[in-house]
Formats: sequence, structure tokens, C-alpha cells
Amino acid sequence: MTAPLRPGDPTIVNVALGGRAYDIVIGRHQMASLGARAAALKPGAKAAIVTDDRVAGLHLEAAEAALAAGVLTTHRIVVAAGEGTKSFAGFECVCEALIAARMERGDLVVALGGGVVGDLAGFAAAAVRRGLDYVQVPTTLLAQVDSSVGGKTAINSRHGKNLVGAFHQPVLVVADTAVLDTLPPRQFRAGYAEVVKYGLLGDAGFFVWLDAHVKEVFAGGAAREHAIATSCRMKAAIVARDERETGDRALLNLGHTFGHALEAAAGFSDRLLHGEAVALGMALAAEFSVRLGVLAPAQAARTTRHLADAGLPVRLAEVAGGVPDADRLMDLMAQDKKVKRGKLTLILMRDIGAAYIAPDVDPALLRAFLMEKLDGQ
Ligand SMILES: NC(=O)c1ccc[n+]([C@@H]2O[C@H](COP(=O)([O-])OP(=O)(O)OC[C@H]3O[C@@H](n4cnc5c(N)ncnc54)[C@H](O)[C@@H]3O)[C@@H](O)[C@H]2O)c1
Ligand SMILES: [Zn+2]
Repeated sequence: MTAPLRPGDPTIVNVALGGRAYDIVIGRHQMASLGARAAALKPGAKAAIVTDDRVAGLHLEAAEAALAAGVLTTHRIVVAAGEGTKSFAGFECVCEALIAARMERGDLVVALGGGVVGDLAGFAAAAVRRGLDYVQVPTTLLAQVDSSVGGKTAINSRHGKNLVGAFHQPVLVVADTAVLDTLPPRQFRAGYAEVVKYGLLGDAGFFVWLDAHVKEVFAGGAAREHAIATSCRMKAAIVARDERETGDRALLNLGHTFGHALEAAAGFSDRLLHGEAVALGMALAAEFSVRLGVLAPAQAARTTRHLADAGLPVRLAEVAGGVPDADRLMDLMAQDKKVKRGKLTLILMRDIGAAYIAPDVDPALLRAFLMEKLDGQ
């Protein structure tokens, strides 16, 4: 990682994928550099900005103005905000708009928004003309530290989330940390769960740092930038080692098998945001690790206390509208993609900063654990 040399300079994290390597540019007001960076990557390109109707009102003009400095023309493709847009209909709409805008191989798709826009625009970019280059300009904390990096793109099927998609790496990620100032606090908190995840899964020092600086991260400024850059550096390193998740990229799913089951139970609604489900999932993963005798109780307690102090849910009773019984939760966990031939794979913790892949979790133990957690709500 290149740390800023002067205040105002961005931090740059490279995702080392050989011929498909790219930079993540992190810093306040870095959106302004978009045009120059696009011109350096694709001289003479046209650009199409895909965004949602909420982000459009806040940041589209700034993005267009910045791009105008470096590309020939810009088109805007505005979709409805919300997970419902990550659908076949949303995909068709974006693909047709890209084709109508005459986007060709030498041009650039720019995904301006949260993970919904990034996943949808990235998948459309992967498919139109068998692959257009695209730039991620993530505008949520979750997108800046997670979904914009690593090249996973997808839409949802009626059978579940992210079931139709492609690996398609962006050519550039510009994470302007100032755009997070307009993000609703609840969305910021939810994204923060993914930041904590990086500390828990592989960097105890980062967890300790977060514990000491959580207020500054929420306030913005240098601490926020450091937290985002550290998260991106870790994701970049894991993606560079295991781009297609045949090995330790799965560690990024810490808290996610529990979390996805809870999200599904809540109907993927505002009752429980993804990051909130992940926070609760990480608390459960830590406590289940204690149950298996692999994690010291004090470390699980530190994990849940930090998440709770940040305002994130750590107990099932905190899910608005309640959660289903243990059998239903087990069913939902089994539907998660991380199931191989009936055996449940969970990401568990040996320590803070030392997560591991547990490929053969005993369903009876897990069921007993969930029943106890549900009783103790
Ligand atoms: N591809 C991956 O690797 C990956 C990883 C994690 C999550 N995801 C996907 O990401 C999606 C969730 O992303 P998300 O949490 O960013 O949700 P989102 O894209 O729905 O954004 C959340 C809300 O915030 C609004 N918003 C975005 N930026 C804003 C800003 N700067 N100011 C004010 N409002 C703003 C959006 O309009 C939306 O209403 C899910 O579909 C998930 O599957 C993908
Ligand atoms: Zn996640």
C-alpha cells in the first residue's frame, strides 16, 4: 500500500492480479480525479455512469463533471435504489441502455453507488459485448471496503441472492471517502461490520486499533481513511491469492452463513441490513467457536462488545420482528452457497485475527447451540 505522502494525497492499494491488476484509490474528494484517471486508462473513451436514483441526486453531477475532464462524452443510466434492482429486469434495462449508448470495447462503464449498483453494473459490463471495462466508484462504506473490490458481480434469482453473475474485475476503484458524509448513519454502521470483519479474520492489531479509534472512524477524516485502506489492503491480498474462492477467499465469509440465514428470514428487508446480519453472524460465530472449545470466552466477549459499542446487533432478540426457530435457521443456513454435499462449512475463530474454515460442522451441535441462543433471547 502507498500511504499518502502529503495530506490530501490518496492512499493507493493495488490488487495484484497480473494483467488484470488495478488500483483502489482512497481519499477525500478523490472523485475529482476520475476524469484524469479514466483518460490515463482509456484515452478517447466514452463513459456511461450507472447509478441509482438516490445517489444520482447527491453525487451524479460531481461524477459527471469530474469525468468530463477525461472522456469524450458521458451517458447516465439511473436505476431505482434498492436490492430489487439487482434482478433480471434491472440487468436487461442496464444492458439495453449501454448498447443504446453505443458503448464499445474501448469505452468505460462507471458504477456510481453502493453494492447494488456495483454488482448490477459490473455484471452488465461483463456481459455487454462479452465484456466492457468498468470502474467502481463506491458510495457506501460497505461498497468501499468490500463489494467494489474483487470482481464478484451478480444479480438475484427468485431462488436466492447473487445466484446469477460473473467474475469480472474492474479496471479501477475510486473510493472517495467524502461521499460517505451523506450516507444515513444506519448504513454507515452496517458497512462498519465488514470493517470489523477484517480485523477479526486476519489482523488482531487492526481490531485493537479499531477498538481505540471507532469514534474517529465514524466521524470521518484520517481514521476513516485508514480503516478503509486497511480493509481494502486485506481484501486485495486475499483476492490476489484466491480470485475465484477455491481456498481462503472463503474467510471473507466470517459471520455470513449465520448472517445470510437471518437476512433471508427477515425477507432481505430493512428489518435487518446485510451488515447488521453480518455483525450478529460474527457474534454467533465467535460464541459457537467458544462452544467448540477453540476460542477463549474472553475473546468472544471482546468481539461482541466492540460490535455492540458500535451500535450493531449481537443478539437474536435484537432482530426486529423476531427470528424463526432453530430448524428453520438450519434450513436457511444449509441453502447458503457454502454447503458442500450436505456438510455445513462455517468460518470460525481460533482467536481475534485468526479465523479458519471449518468444513465439517456437526449439525446436531449447531442446532443445540442455536436453540440455546433462541431460548436466551
Ligand atoms: N460483489 C461483492 O463482492 C459483494 C460483497 C458484499 C455485498 N455485495 C452486495 O452489495 C449489496 C449491498 O450494498 P450496499 O450495502 O452498498 O447497499 P445499496 O447499494 O442498496 O445502498 C444502500 C442505500 O444507500 C443509498 N446510498 C448509496 N450511497 C449513498 C450516499 N453516499 N449517500 C446517501 N445514500 C447513499 C443507496 O441509494 C441505497 O438506498 C447487496 O446486494 C450485496 O449482495 C456484493
Ligand atoms: Zn458481507
